[in-house]
Amino acid sequence: MKTIYKLATRLSLMVLIGVAVVAPIHAAENPAPADPSLLPVFEQFGGKPGLDALMEDFMIKLIEDPRTRNYFAEVDQKHVKAMLAEQFCVILGGPCTYTGKDMKETHAKLSINEGGFNALVEDLQLAMDMHKIPFRAQNKLLGKLAPMHREVVTLP
Ligand code: HEM
Repeated sequence: MKTIYKLATRLSLMVLIGVAVVAPIHAAENPAPADPSLLPVFEQFGGKPGLDALMEDFMIKLIEDPRTRNYFAEVDQKHVKAMLAEQFCVILGGPCTYTGKDMKETHAKLSINEGGFNALVEDLQLAMDMHKIPFRAQNKLLGKLAPMHREVVTLP
């Protein structure tokens, strides 16, 4: 009886550890899934055309900012802007499909640290202010982007 009890405890522990290990990995694959409840926020961004326009100024800010300039100066900016607009559209429950690359793979070799991540978020906030996106709507998007930190930042 004791052995059966021990075996059962061990088995449930294994299941628990299995869930704990597998769950975050699975969550990391899609850290910011579409959230249909954010559709009103999507509208506050001006829909897809609003997001496309936002990305123009976001990229300008990223290039102006000495903390992020070197990352973006040599890349296909047009492509990155288009992928960001698609991705944000999906995140905000909009009628888009993200056709870009996986976040982890995209940023793996870019040596991005905390400072770089914070700089990008600040530049996005500046661009959203320029586009008069309401503060609460800004925070809704930023809240969805925050979990991507673990996909993007590879240095302390
Ligand atoms: C939540 C934060 C971030 C999100 C949502 C994000 C999203 C994206 C997306 C959608 C792409 C395009 C992927 C593709 O080509 O298919 C991209 C590319 C890129 N991102 Fe990020 N990113 C984030 C943070 C950062 C940070 C902090 C940096 C650097 C400071 C950065 C630097 C880059 C660069 C340089 C590329 C272009 C890579 C290439 O074309 O080779 N990203 N990012």
